Amino acid sequence: MDTLLIRGGRPLHGVVPVSGAKNASLPILIATVVAPGEHRLQNVPDLVDTSSMLSLLGRIGCPSLVGDTTRVDTSRVAFCEAPYDLVRKMRASVLALGPLLARCGEAHVSLPGGCAIGVRPIDQHLKGLEALGCRFDLEGGYVHGRVDKLRGAEFRFDLVTVTGTENVLMAAVLAEGTTVLENAAAEPEVEDLAKFLSGCGARIEGAGTSRIVVHGVSSLRPSPQAHRILPDRIEAGTYLVAGVITRGNVRCEGASASDLAPVLEVLRNAGAEIDHGEGWVSAGASGRVRPFDITTAPHPGFPTDMQAQVMSLASLALGTSSITETIFENRFMHVAELMRLGARVHIDGRTATVTGQPCLSGATVMATDLRASASLVLAGLAAEGTTEILRLYHLDRGYERLVEKLSAVGASVMRGQEGRPNLAVA
Ligand code: EPU
Repeated sequence: MDTLLIRGGRPLHGVVPVSGAKNASLPILIATVVAPGEHRLQNVPDLVDTSSMLSLLGRIGCPSLVGDTTRVDTSRVAFCEAPYDLVRKMRASVLALGPLLARCGEAHVSLPGGCAIGVRPIDQHLKGLEALGCRFDLEGGYVHGRVDKLRGAEFRFDLVTVTGTENVLMAAVLAEGTTVLENAAAEPEVEDLAKFLSGCGARIEGAGTSRIVVHGVSSLRPSPQAHRILPDRIEAGTYLVAGVITRGNVRCEGASASDLAPVLEVLRNAGAEIDHGEGWVSAGASGRVRPFDITTAPHPGFPTDMQAQVMSLASLALGTSSITETIFENRFMHVAELMRLGARVHIDGRTATVTGQPCLSGATVMATDLRASASLVLAGLAAEGTTEILRLYHLDRGYERLVEKLSAVGASVMRGQEGRPNLAVA
């Protein structure tokens, strides 16, 4: 199995190009199903998760061609099933539910089950789709959904769910009448999905706010213009923290300062130098940052997907920081591994108290999920000595060309093989 070897302690300086957002690409790739024909998408990142979504499209009968422009042909849908072997690899396969119900009137999607960061039920996806007229049975580990005719409805989510909002939105665009979604997710990725669907002829208002209104249309067709996926704010945020934690300065080309606002505010308050302009954001520091307090929340709050990364930064701050996770019940898996590098963290329920240390020291650590892995990379970049991160496959799910991008800004990092004597990184 691949590992990542990092020789820490080098300030990173330079420019990192930001890839297209994973969490916008996944719903948009499957949303192509609601508009039969050939779609063209730009800026789809080359990640294990996007490949899994393309495999799912292939399984249901929609071939694709990957390149600078990714093409997906949804002229024909032969099967309406997202099987366990794909859903198991990638929970976002559950996003097939709404589009398949809208296109075929039925969908058979394996229940995703829990994962490293929590139980992650899909009750809100099902309730929202039921409000539009869908019926569901659970059998053999699968959700079997059917609908004769989708009808617009008013629906209020009990809690804010990103993929839940996306699933219901993808069905509502083809429902008869108007759908009003209250307490909807306002994440930029939901807005990008709505933009894609609007390009196909959908009539959507309020995407990017907590109230989305959808006026159903009878059919959709691929947009004549290619849709360009928005830049990945979490990837950008991770590289910005890399600039700050290594006491260098990293400029993320393609990043949007407004989508990153809650992250930039925390970094700025911690004393980082932040600058931004049209299509770029930079962050750096010349010494240890001040401690900070964050609480994760749905957009425009502080994103849970950046919580682990800023914890690495807090572990080197000049005092005690407090980090509260409100979105997922089990998203402190990185803490024990960070402590192996010398971080001092105390967890009490949903809050981690992080006492900043003057330095961290390299060690072998285990990645447990995507963002936990990113936090270990950041800690490893700042630590003295060599850090080896095992189970690198988590990072390949969400960070395109990570080694190349980090190397280009001066990091000493390379892939290795678990269990093999690794060459020392330069
Ligand atoms: N929840 C329910 N019932 C539901 C749906 C969600 O109880 O029907 C709970 C979840 O268990 C969680 C909370 O609601 O406690 C919020 O979960 P949400 O549904 O918003 O998460 P998600 O849609 O499964 C997406 C991203 C995640 C990101 C979260 C929160 C994608 C493909 N995934 O997941 O991204 O952390 O929103 O912003 O968009 C990542 O990229 O590393 C990642 C995990």
